[in-house]
Amino acid sequence: MGKILVTGGTGYIGSHTTVELIQAGFKVVIVDNLFNSVIETLDGIKEITGVKPDFEKFDLCDYDRLKEFFKKYPDIDSIVHFAAHKAVGESVRDPLKYYHNNLVSLINLLKIATKKNIKNFVFSSSCTVYGEPEELPVTEETPTKGQASPYGNTKSISEEILRDVAKTHDINVISLRYFNPVGAHDSILIGELPLGKPENLVPYITQTAAGIRKELKIFGNDYDTPDGYNIRDYIHIVDLAKAHVVALKRLLEKKNKLEFEIYNLGTGKGSSTMEVVKTFEKATGQKLNYRIVGRRPGDVVAVYTDASLAEEELGWKAQRTLEDMLKSAWEWEKKYRNIQ
Ligand code: UFG
Repeated sequence: MGKILVTGGTGYIGSHTTVELIQAGFKVVIVDNLFNSVIETLDGIKEITGVKPDFEKFDLCDYDRLKEFFKKYPDIDSIVHFAAHKAVGESVRDPLKYYHNNLVSLINLLKIATKKNIKNFVFSSSCTVYGEPEELPVTEETPTKGQASPYGNTKSISEEILRDVAKTHDINVISLRYFNPVGAHDSILIGELPLGKPENLVPYITQTAAGIRKELKIFGNDYDTPDGYNIRDYIHIVDLAKAHVVALKRLLEKKNKLEFEIYNLGTGKGSSTMEVVKTFEKATGQKLNYRIVGRRPGDVVAVYTDASLAEEELGWKAQRTLEDMLKSAWEWEKKYRNIQ
């Protein structure tokens, strides 16, 4: 069995997936430029699994460096590609940074993968490709739209590139469209490490509870939803990570029906922002200081998935509840901040 290249493997989703891959018996090599992650994550992975994965620090946009890398690791037979910039707001302010980084790195990887006869590729996509969906829940058949952000565009364009390459080359691709991943590993040895002020809801909640932020601002309560708040499909990071192992095995065992397949990864259950806040309070016993403010530009009203395709085809189903997710996010924050 060959090795698995995990790009972005020290990041949030990458590190949790690396743990699941190692625990499933795979040998992992991580490439990460540590732009938005820290090297110490490897220690967490080692403590959980007993294995420190091989690690190389470089930027995937550097094709010559990538070629050198593949000379050193000739036995890689699969790629799980996470490495990308992911801040929606920043992508609006600096679109070229996003198009360059997210697309050049993918193209470089595919150029080398097709040369080296690497046949299995799992891609990290996002529910952002659905934009504001006309019907809920969304399925993999729901039309994708022009995106509200350059970040979202890079995910759609990447999928198009992958679809074309899978058609013409001997490479099989599974694109996983994530809904909203939250929480941390049960061991709380790895978790989410947002740099600076978090943009996402759950790290903002846990930092507010930890006293690092004064209050959570809730963006809008006048949406056309049952309670007036936005709705999202939050999914536990460990459930999400496990889906990558299942997808990779499907490719390795040649069980995929198409050369390019797409699966939505969510729980199938939508939760409103206020439900998340109330569930956090209930699950952790922490009273949260929050205030309702105006809408955040670019937020979609509601998005959650029909989770049946992943269950039918991959045999994968999210197991953990919103309460589990928020408890583990809080345990991680407490450990990280040394809160008793
Ligand atoms: N929210 C707040 N206050 C905050 C942060 C978020 O009220 O301080 C609300 C948002 O308005 C939204 C919900 O919490 O209704 C979730 O917001 P997040 O920023 O956590 O997540 P998003 O759904 O906006 O973003 C996620 C991913 C992106 C992806 C996007 C596509 O983080 O990578 O979904 O919709 F592009």
